[in-house]
Amino acid sequence: MNGERVGTFIATKEHRRFTEFAEAVRKHRYVGLCYGAAGVGKTLSARRYAHWDVAGPVIEAWNGCGRSKEKKINEALSRSRTVFHTPTVLGTLRDLKDTLGEHIDRVDTCIDSHVHRDAKGPRVITHEEFHVEMLIFDEAERLSVTALEFIRDIFDRRGVGVILIGMPGMEKRLSRYPQLYSRVGFAHHYRPLQGDELSFVLTRHWRKLGLALDEADFTDTQAIASIARITGGNFRLLHRLFVQIERILKINGLSVITDDVVEAARSTLVIGAA
Ligand SMILES: Nc1ncnc2c1ncn2[C@@H]1O[C@H](COP(=O)(O)OP(=O)(O)OP(=O)(O)O)[C@@H](O)[C@H]1O
Ligand SMILES: [Mg+2]
Repeated sequence: MNGERVGTFIATKEHRRFTEFAEAVRKHRYVGLCYGAAGVGKTLSARRYAHWDVAGPVIEAWNGCGRSKEKKINEALSRSRTVFHTPTVLGTLRDLKDTLGEHIDRVDTCIDSHVHRDAKGPRVITHEEFHVEMLIFDEAERLSVTALEFIRDIFDRRGVGVILIGMPGMEKRLSRYPQLYSRVGFAHHYRPLQGDELSFVLTRHWRKLGLALDEADFTDTQAIASIARITGGNFRLLHRLFVQIERILKINGLSVITDDVVEAARSTLVIGAA
């Protein structure tokens, strides 16, 4: 992932709620739906849960055979027991089948290598021993009807939990496919940052610019209110807005984020400019 675009991960309340949701789906082997507006942090939370930022590159560029030597990754995957998958935009069913099948096997191998880390020599993984317990599909809107049907089949045969992540409205679309829909355990609404948590994230942004945020200061309070209004607590917008704020402070040699600075930054954004 692009470091510049992402920044440090903040374990928000929403992330914790997502983790609890994922744990429940995995434990009870449901189909779970996670929906929320663009840019609130769904993908990041799911990748974090699956340890996909560390494990993903190894799984995707696999060069192991019977065992995986990546101890840290084996250990991480044996904690999450999850495969994270993003369907490609114009992906065919064949792509999905091949990639997903491969990734499940590779993650299985990693977990197996962890579980039997003390055993010597090569191991043959038998089919009674599946280690993967959950599949997460990001951008689930991209899945065709046949792809959903295929996923339902894996869900039934493998007895894994499945999470489908998408935008609000996804649950309505899925309700048109009763076979999959009847297996949905529950839906989880991923919400934007609110109240104290938004202030907490903003304080971190302020600090990153080398400034201090004082909620007793009227200028700061006013700037916070404007940022909250413009971004609606949306992580992606917040990041973008702060990139602009930083630029404007620098160009003008300013060291205080005033309402005017926020307003100037807002005017350069394409979305959230209402
Ligand atoms: N917990 C977090 N800590 C820090 N930054 C975050 C966090 N969550 C999200 N972000 C920031 O917000 C951006 C958007 O997050 P993400 O891609 O997860 O959103 P999304 O809900 O999956 O959006 P979409 O529906 O468009 O796929 C990230 O690139 C990152 O910069
Ligand atoms: Mg996403």
